[in-house]
Amino acid sequence: MGATTPNIDLHRLPHHVAIIMDGNGRWAQRRGITRVEGHKRGKDSVRAVVETSRRLGIKYLSLFAFSTENWQRPRREVEALMGLLRRYLRTELRKMMKNEIRLLAIGDLTRLPPALQADLQSTIDATKNNPGMTVVLAVSYGGREDMVQAARKLACDARSGRIDPEKIDARVLDGYFSTAGIPDPDLLIRTSGEMRISNFFLWQLAYSEIYVTETLWPDFREIEFMDALAVFQQRERRFGRILEHQEAEQLRAAR
Ligand code: FPP
Repeated sequence: MGATTPNIDLHRLPHHVAIIMDGNGRWAQRRGITRVEGHKRGKDSVRAVVETSRRLGIKYLSLFAFSTENWQRPRREVEALMGLLRRYLRTELRKMMKNEIRLLAIGDLTRLPPALQADLQSTIDATKNNPGMTVVLAVSYGGREDMVQAARKLACDARSGRIDPEKIDARVLDGYFSTAGIPDPDLLIRTSGEMRISNFFLWQLAYSEIYVTETLWPDFREIEFMDALAVFQQRERRFGRILEHQEAEQLRAAR
């Protein structure tokens, strides 16, 4: 692995990487081809980051594949994206099993075409005991919508007496999000240069390091991913604290 992991300390990898995969359309436009062609190439980048994460030992990878806002795109593009997701699940299942990858899906899955819902469910079921890595596909996902459904469930539990409102703290609330049980992302990567969170994980990104690259998603492959990980490892994560002198020295020495 050494030759392909420059500047990466395999002992200090992020546990959870979340990615906003942006720029498929611009990538295609620059080549005078259809946006759907851009998404197709984007699918190959998905494959590359999943494989690289697994090989390095990253435990959680979340991919923002389709947002609640994306439903407003032209019907043909939406249908093409749904088709791509379906094909991805079908072609990758064998590899997921071989590499012990567990798939989870979050978002309003009821809005997806029934065939895609069925394929998602069967892939989730087939991979549910895979211990190697978890890939979280955010489809028809919105951070605010996730907050709303969490608030609604929590209010119902409070009303029915299952939970005492006085006992609600950050840990309790966290358990109501669709990402319950998944550690918060250590690193958020956004491609194509936009400095926005775009209604992705709002609650979960509180302390995540953010890495934005100009690279468009279809061009974001293993080398670009490694660059992001190397930058992550140079950051000093303080979580709002002041690092003790010794701790800071240790971090510097580790770099
Ligand atoms: C953003 O590019 C990308 C999307 C809306 C969809 C992401 C989908 C894929 C990467 C392909 C399939 C996914 C999986 C998980 C197999 P954009 O169209 O917004 O680009 P633009 O901002 O340049 O127009």
